[in-house]
Amino acid sequence: MKIFIDTASIKEIKEAVSLGLIDGVTTNPSLIAKENRPAEDLLKEIATLVTGPISAEVLSLDVEGMLKEARLLTKIAKNIVIKVPLTKDGIKAVRCLAQEGIKTNTTLCFSANQALLVAKAGGNYVSPFIGRLDDISQVGMDLIRNIKTIYNNYSFKTEIIVASVRNPVHVLDAALIGADIATIPFTVIEQLIKHPLTDIGIQRFLEDSKKIPK
Ligand code: G3P
Repeated sequence: MKIFIDTASIKEIKEAVSLGLIDGVTTNPSLIAKENRPAEDLLKEIATLVTGPISAEVLSLDVEGMLKEARLLTKIAKNIVIKVPLTKDGIKAVRCLAQEGIKTNTTLCFSANQALLVAKAGGNYVSPFIGRLDDISQVGMDLIRNIKTIYNNYSFKTEIIVASVRNPVHVLDAALIGADIATIPFTVIEQLIKHPLTDIGIQRFLEDSKKIPK
């Protein structure tokens, strides 16, 4: 499973990249707003750090506006992937951008039928938001399972990005289901590394090592 980092923070991206685990980055307007600097500037800097796909979201809601923004965003760097919302206009934009050879990540997916349409439109990535489904008492991971089954049934090439990941169990479930990608906040990446028994084990080895004759 590929690991993307879900952030627009340069500090977090740098640290995650230094681990050698990061295959791509996803951003959204909320994440970019936290960084308090112009989006284009930020995306340019992210592109100097990461060679994998970097998702950048359009703000327009109409297809013409989405296409215009997408064409500008792709000028920032070769690896920019255009994030479009899962609406009628979004689906139309995915189709047009696919014809222009511009990669898309269709975001805010909350149903398997929506994901089916993204694949049919020629989308490169779909982002089901599992944490937000859990928030409203639905089992987010069931959506990933269903999309995976549908994509397998028809050999669709669209990759599933498990998004709105909130904890290590989400990552584990994504990997068990065989999702293509999980986009993970930095804090959860750190949680994946940590285990209390690892820390206790290190401590014990260090203490025992003092008893080794010199
Ligand atoms: O990848 C989508 C993500 O940024 C949304 O996460 O936690 O705001 O639902 P969250």
